[in-house]
Amino acid sequence: MSLLLLLWITCVPCVSTTPVLGPSERTQTGGSAAAAVASGLGEGQRLLSRAKRGWVWNQMFVLEEFSGPDPILVGRLHTDLDVGGRNIKYVLAGEGAGTIFAINELTGDIHAMKRLDREEKAEYTLTAQVVNADTDEPLEPPSEFIIKVQDINDNPPQFIEGPYRASVPEMSAVGTPVTRVTATDADDPVYGNSAKLIYSILEGQPYFSVDPNSATIKIALHGMDREMREEYLVVIQAKDMGGHSGGLSGTTTVTVTLTDINDNPPKFSKSLYEFTIPEDLPIGKMGGKVKANDRDIGDNAKSTYNIIEGDDQGMFEIITDSQTQEGILRLKKPLDYETRRAYTLKVEATNVRSEPGSGGPFRDTATVKIVVDDSDEPPIFSKPVYSLEVNENAPINTVIGMVAARDPDSTGSQVRYFIDRHTDMERQFNINADDGKITLAKPLDRETDMWHNITVTAMEVRNHSQISRAIVAIRVMDINDNAPEFANEYEAFLCENGKPGQVIQTVSAVDKDDPVQGHSFNYRLVPEMLNNPNFTIKKNPGERERGNQQKLVIQ
Ligand SMILES: *[C@@H]1O[C@H](CO)[C@@H](O)[C@H](O)[C@H]1NC(C)=O
Ligand SMILES: *[C@@H]1O[C@H](CO)[C@@H](O)[C@H](O)[C@H]1NC(C)=O
Ligand SMILES: *[C@@H]1O[C@H](CO)[C@@H](O)[C@H](O)[C@H]1NC(C)=O
Repeated sequence: MSLLLLLWITCVPCVSTTPVLGPSERTQTGGSAAAAVASGLGEGQRLLSRAKRGWVWNQMFVLEEFSGPDPILVGRLHTDLDVGGRNIKYVLAGEGAGTIFAINELTGDIHAMKRLDREEKAEYTLTAQVVNADTDEPLEPPSEFIIKVQDINDNPPQFIEGPYRASVPEMSAVGTPVTRVTATDADDPVYGNSAKLIYSILEGQPYFSVDPNSATIKIALHGMDREMREEYLVVIQAKDMGGHSGGLSGTTTVTVTLTDINDNPPKFSKSLYEFTIPEDLPIGKMGGKVKANDRDIGDNAKSTYNIIEGDDQGMFEIITDSQTQEGILRLKKPLDYETRRAYTLKVEATNVRSEPGSGGPFRDTATVKIVVDDSDEPPIFSKPVYSLEVNENAPINTVIGMVAARDPDSTGSQVRYFIDRHTDMERQFNINADDGKITLAKPLDRETDMWHNITVTAMEVRNHSQISRAIVAIRVMDINDNAPEFANEYEAFLCENGKPGQVIQTVSAVDKDDPVQGHSFNYRLVPEMLNNPNFTIKKNPGERERGNQQKLVIQ
C-alpha cells in the first residue's frame, strides 16, 4: 500500500484554505508520496497556469516576514495509511526541521516557528516520512519536498550607484538622452509587483524628464544655455509595485553639467584702441594689446587676430598670446615719424573653432589708432659702406672721397665727422669734420697695404650721444712705380769654340707692380755692350707666357 502525502494549503493572511488536489491530480502524482501546494485563491489560479507548463507538486509556500502571536501553519501532510486507529506518526527532517519548521506528529501539520526572510533564504528542502508510532519503523521511504518563502514587498528600491554625475552639451535638442540611472529591488522579481519599478522625476523639471521604464534622463527644455546656468540637480525616484500607491520608493540625485559649445562670438572689449608707439620701437616688439572676450570656454573661447584694413605697407602684425588670449600688436617694419605719424587699422578677432551648422566662425572687429611718437634718432649715413679708391703715391691732401650723414629727426641737428683712430693707427687719412671729405694725410704704398678699411663716426652737434658709424673701404690703386728686376744674378760660361747663334744664357725679369702676372718687358744690352758685335739678345719665341724670357745669343 502506498503512502500519499497531501498538502493543505494555507495562506496568511489568507481568507480560506483550499485543498487543490482533486482525485485526478492525486492519481497523477503516482509514486509513493506527493506534496502539493498553493497559497490562496489568486495563487491557486497561478498554480493552474503553472500547471500548463508542468506541474510542480512537491512544494509548499510560506509568507515571509509573518510575525503573528502563534506559529503560522505552512501546510499539512497526510497519508492514506492514516486511517483511524492506526498507530502512525509523521517525521520531518532536512533544512530547518525542528528549528524553523515543526510538525505535529499526529496531524501532519507543519508550522513555521520563526519569522522568515525571503531575501535571506528563499526556500528550504525537507523530507517527510511516516513511521510506526510504536516502533519508529518507517512505513515508507522518505519523501522530499520544498518550502518556498513567499515574497512580500518588504524591500524598497535602491540606487546602488548613485549619486550620479552626467554632462550634456548645452543647446541640445529636446529628447537628447543625458544618462540612465538604475535602481534595484531585493524583492522577488518574478512574483508580484514588489520589484516592478517605475521612475519619476522629483526635481529638475522643466529642464529634464525621465523615462518611467528605462530610467533614461532626457533634455526636456529647448535652448539650455551654459552661459546662463551650467549645473542642474535632478532628483529621480524609483517606486515599486509598478508605481502604485503603497509601493516603496527610493531616490537618487543626478548632477547634470552642461558642456560648452561655441555659441558665443568673440567681442572686443573696446571698439576703438589707441596706442602711441615710439618710432624707434624695435621690430617684433609689442606696440599694444587688444582683447576680444568670449563667453564660451576652452577652445571655444580662443580667437585669432588679423589686421584686415589700413596696413598696406605691412608695418604691423597681431599675434595671439596663448596664455591670455590677447592680441599683441607688433612691428614688422621700422616706423619713421618723419615719413608717417599715424595709422588707423581695422583688426578682426575670429574664433579658432567653429561648430558645424552654427553659422560660425564668429568674428568681431575693432579700430586701432596708432600715433607714432618722435624719437631722438642718431644720424644716418647715406650708405652703410663707402668704397673709395686712391692712387698710390698720390700727393698729401688729395681728396679721396666723401661721406655724408644726416639727423633724421624733424628738428635735424648738424652732424660732425670723425675717423675712429684705432682703425687708422698710422693716421694716414683725415676727415673734414663739417663736410665729411676724406683726404690723404700720409703717402700710401700699395705694395705695403692694398686696403685701408677705416670707420667714420657721425655725431649730432646737439647731442653728442647721438652717433652712428660707417665703414669706408679705401682701395689703393697701383701705379707703375717699380722697375723690373732680374729674377736671378746670371753668370754665364762660354767655350772658346762657341759658334754664332749658340745660346749662352736665358734671362727673365719680374715686376712688383700690378699685374703680378703678364708684365711685358723689353730687354736690351747695356750701352757699353752695344759696340760689341759678337753678342746679341733675342726674343724667346713661344716663351711669352713664361715671364718673357729672352736669350743671350752669340752673333
Ligand atoms: C676691406 O674692405 C674690402 C671691401 O669690403 C674687402 O674686400 C677687404 O678684404 C677689406 N680688407 C681688410 C684688410 O679688411
Ligand atoms: C642724448 O641722446 C641719448 C641717446 O639717445 C639720450 O639717452 C639722451 O637723453 C639724449 N640727451 C638729450 C639731452 O636729449
Ligand atoms: C769679337 O771677336 C773677334 C774674333 O773672335 C775679336 O777679334 C774681337 O776682338 C771681338 N770684339 C770685341 C769687342 O771683343
